[in-house]
Amino acid sequence: MKPWGDTGPRIVVTGATGAVGRHLARRLGAGAQARLLVRDAEKAARLGLPDDAVVTGDYQDRSRLEEVLAGADAVFVVTANPLRPADDANILAAARARGVRRAVKLSWTAVADPDATDLIARWNRDSEALLHDSGLDWTVLRMRSPMSNTLAWASAIRKESVVRSFAGDAPTACVDPRDVAEAAARVLTEPGHESRTYALTGPEELTPREQTRQLADVLRRPLRFEELTAEQALTRWRERLPEPLAQALLEVAERRGGPGTGPGHDGEGDLEALLGHAPTPYRQWAADHAAHFC
Ligand SMILES: NC(=O)c1ccc[n+]([C@@H]2O[C@H](COP(=O)([O-])OP(=O)(O)OC[C@H]3O[C@@H](n4cnc5c(N)ncnc54)[C@H](OP(=O)(O)O)[C@@H]3O)[C@@H](O)[C@H]2O)c1
Repeated sequence: MKPWGDTGPRIVVTGATGAVGRHLARRLGAGAQARLLVRDAEKAARLGLPDDAVVTGDYQDRSRLEEVLAGADAVFVVTANPLRPADDANILAAARARGVRRAVKLSWTAVADPDATDLIARWNRDSEALLHDSGLDWTVLRMRSPMSNTLAWASAIRKESVVRSFAGDAPTACVDPRDVAEAAARVLTEPGHESRTYALTGPEELTPREQTRQLADVLRRPLRFEELTAEQALTRWRERLPEPLAQALLEVAERRGGPGTGPGHDGEGDLEALLGHAPTPYRQWAADHAAHFC
């Protein structure tokens, strides 16, 4: 592991291969020093993360976390497994033990929704509480669904020109993970964001059907939309996730199919204020990622 240099804030990015982390990792290259924590160095290389900044480690290995965090000013905390709540606790305890002053945590907008009682919302809520009690200066970035979730449609679009999704008419103000990374970079490197919780939402509410139409426009070919039943969606989630997570995703999707969070939802405007420019629309994200769908 490369020793820290003398210039710029020293930042550890956990989840550096994740949807947001990979963009933050590339962004911090200029102006800040970064250690990019990954558990799979080959994946990091495939994503083009700068070799000399990549360090390997697992959230379950507390002593490794301490080695990586030693000497850092700030840590970006990304955890992804609600069945392993100790991950957040380990990262925060290691940061505290090594004198790190600031932690910026990626979380979920549903935390603010009293009707969100699914496992994923409860875990994010508990993780935020751990952060508040950590003794570190904290900031929470609550994100709506990242636009990159629709990459899960890429294979069926390429092979069959079809999108299959549950709750086709449920709107979400999905957000470009590049925008979230840009906001995170500002919060990690600027003063004045301590004890703040930002809701990072995209510029418009879109349903999966509307996203499919926009993708078809961008790709200049017709795409069909096939709505999955709850049972079909659950079967698909069960193929790749443990049962409690598959059930939680079903609860999330069923809740989204209910009353929307239309204009005026909590946190509207937080992202634009942090970025200093309008958030990226889905159509632009789709155009920039069209190659994945061709
Ligand atoms: N995904 C969504 O739709 C969504 C929507 C809104 C909010 N959120 C919130 O955003 C946060 C991140 O979730 P996500 O699913 O979006 O994450 P993600 O993009 O999949 O990123 C998770 C990152 O954590 C790494 N990681 C996981 N377990 C690890 C371990 N034990 N040791 C080291 N690294 C580990 C992963 O590495 P690998 O690349 O090796 O797996 C990956 O880099 C969560 O709080 C989630 O609730 C997610």
